[in-house]
Amino acid sequence: MKVIEVPLVNAPYRVCVGVGLIGQVGELASGVVPPCRCAVVTDSNVGPLHGDALLGSLRGAGYDPVVLTVEAGEASKRMGEVERLCEEMIQAGLDRGSAVFALGGGVVGDLAGFVAAVFYRGVPHVQVPTTVVAQVDSAIGGKTGVNARGGKNLIGAFHQPRLVVADPAVLGTLPPREFNEGHAEIIKHAAIRDAGMLDALDNIEALVPRNIAIKAAIVAEDEFETAGVRALLNFGHTIGHGIEAAAGYGALLHGEAISLGLVAACRLSVARAGLPVEEAERVVEALGGFDLPLRLPSEISTGAVVEALKHDKKFLSGKVRFVLLERLGVARVDTGLTIRDLEEAVEGLR
Ligand SMILES: NC(=O)c1ccc[n+]([C@@H]2O[C@H](COP(=O)([O-])OP(=O)(O)OC[C@H]3O[C@@H](n4cnc5c(N)ncnc54)[C@H](O)[C@@H]3O)[C@@H](O)[C@H]2O)c1
Ligand SMILES: [Zn+2]
Repeated sequence: MKVIEVPLVNAPYRVCVGVGLIGQVGELASGVVPPCRCAVVTDSNVGPLHGDALLGSLRGAGYDPVVLTVEAGEASKRMGEVERLCEEMIQAGLDRGSAVFALGGGVVGDLAGFVAAVFYRGVPHVQVPTTVVAQVDSAIGGKTGVNARGGKNLIGAFHQPRLVVADPAVLGTLPPREFNEGHAEIIKHAAIRDAGMLDALDNIEALVPRNIAIKAAIVAEDEFETAGVRALLNFGHTIGHGIEAAAGYGALLHGEAISLGLVAACRLSVARAGLPVEEAERVVEALGGFDLPLRLPSEISTGAVVEALKHDKKFLSGKVRFVLLERLGVARVDTGLTIRDLEEAVEGLR
């Protein structure tokens, strides 16, 4: 087992990574969350596959879990589900002394984390991430929340988990498209912080802790995204989010849209920040290695992407804050780009 500390001043916690750890969550958690009546929030795909392993381990450690299942998919990340889960938890006898375990991908993690943030004004939660995205990214850092009609992740809270347990073995049941998708975030981490990882992309068991260490370090430096460092994690996400929205949510998986955003951001980095062309090409090749898209589908118009970009939270102040690479592994925030520059970069993806 590898242990990565997230050394936050007020609420430090550990991320435990290792094959088979899903069967030890109870034991690992009992040190930081006293055994109690607790909720296991999961989704309709993950529960049947991995629920029993988690429940067995929780019961073995003295917890008394009730399982709450949401429909798999992004649509479950909404306020209606927050209310339903809270009501069911009250019905099931949970109270301020209870805890929430999130078993699933980023949807379950964000939703269950937010429920934990607001139930009885906040109870402890443990993240047990089951997708590549969740293990290397969303389960760490304390950003929880749901979507609003007006946009993704607009309702939420910072609520750090007490513990994260990532078991790479559970990734074995992921459909290939979801498995590949998660590698867009891994390649993003490599690009901004750890170029050497681009030569080691074929071993997911080794990649998970390496990526968690990057995310944990950035979160520790900038817990509330006020110092600017955490913003570097948005590399590839400005144009990527625009493409994701323009395609219509669901048409492209998040990681697929981010792949295109990364390609565009690398090219802009060559033009504006002196990134060597061959370094940009290494990123593009790495994405291609996971069958991630490198060209914008013809049915997505540049105009639609630009319109979506203008609605992005990051543009509310009127200034474009865009992450560029100076070298592989060295990223910075740039404020000199215009919407017109981004439009050209989107056009360059054809
Ligand atoms: N909080 C953060 O910092 C943060 C960061 C990145 C992404 N996110 C959020 O994460 C969400 C995306 O997360 P995701 O990509 O994990 O999607 P997801 O949770 O929807 O999971 C993808 C699909 O895989 C299924 N699945 C999950 N684990 C499985 C397993 N082990 N075996 C078989 N099937 C499995 C799910 O049921 C779902 O159908 C988005 O809502 C995004 O906003 C949050
Ligand atoms: Zn992302």
